[in-house]
Amino acid sequence: MKPSAKKRFTGATIIDIMPRDDILVKQPTSVATPPNSTFTLPFSTPFTFPEIIDADHFTINGLARRIRSSSTPAIELRSLIFEVCWRLIRHDLSEDLVMRPAFANVLGKPGAEMAEHDRRDHMRGREILLKLVNSEPDFEDPAAMRRVLGMVGDLFDELGEHMAIESGEHIPKFCTVIDQETSQRLARDYAMTLCMTPYITTFNVDADPRMLTPVLMFPGGVKTYVNTDLTVLRRIYNEVIKDAKHDNGKRIKEEIEKEIERLKVGKWLGYNERKALREGKGGGMGKL
Ligand SMILES: [Fe+2]
Ligand SMILES: [Fe+2]
Repeated sequence: MKPSAKKRFTGATIIDIMPRDDILVKQPTSVATPPNSTFTLPFSTPFTFPEIIDADHFTINGLARRIRSSSTPAIELRSLIFEVCWRLIRHDLSEDLVMRPAFANVLGKPGAEMAEHDRRDHMRGREILLKLVNSEPDFEDPAAMRRVLGMVGDLFDELGEHMAIESGEHIPKFCTVIDQETSQRLARDYAMTLCMTPYITTFNVDADPRMLTPVLMFPGGVKTYVNTDLTVLRRIYNEVIKDAKHDNGKRIKEEIEKEIERLKVGKWLGYNERKALREGKGGGMGKL
C-alpha cells in the first residue's frame, strides 16, 4: 500500500475513548471522528506507536529476567516483583485506552477480535498478579520464594507468547494501514497513560480550591494499584487527566517524562534485540 493510501485515525482521544464493551459492538466506521475539546499536555514523545509498545514490553521483560536470574540478590526481589506487577497492570490499562480501540476502529471486525484476544490474555495474567501481591510472601523464606518465582515463571511463560503475537503479528498488521502521523499520535496517547503509576497524585480542590493539595490516588501503593479493577483504573485515569488543568499539567508531565526516559532504553534496541522481542524472547537476552 502506498503511504498516501494509509489511514489516518483521528478518532477518540484518550479522555473520551469509548468504554471497552462498546469496542466489540462498534462497526468498522470512519476513522476520522474529530476529538472533543480536551485538556492537552505540553509534551512530545520520541516514539512511534510500535516502538512505545515494544519499549514497554522490553522494560517489563527486563524486570522479569532479573527476577528469574539466580544472580539477583534476594533483597532486591520484593521491589522487582512489585514493580513488574504494577507495570503489567498499567500496560493492560494503556493498551485498553489506546491500542484496543484503535485496532477496532481501524481494522473493523478483525481488529475488534484482536483487541478482545488481548483483553482476555491480560485478564488471565491479572489473576496471577493478584495472587502474587495478595499472598504477601515472606521474602526471607526460601520455600515461599520458590512459590513466588514459580508464579512469575507461569505468568511470563504465558505473557512471552502474548507479547510475541502482539509485537510480531497484531501491531505490524495494524501499522500497515495507518500513516506515520497516526502512529505518532497513538504513541503520544500511549505516553500520556504512563502517568498512571501507583504513586500518581491528583489535587484535592474540593477541600480548598486555593491550595493545590496533592492526594495519592492509590494510598496503599502497589497493592492497591494491582487490586484496582480495569474499569476503575480507567475512571481514575480520566480524573487525573482532567485535574491536570489545575497546574497546567506540570505534575503529570514530570511523571510522564520520567517514564519516557525509563522506556527509552527499550527504544534504542538493536535489530537483533527487537527481532528477539518479537519472537517472544524479550529483554533482548535470550528466552525468558
Ligand atoms: Fe497486550
Ligand atoms: Fe502489550
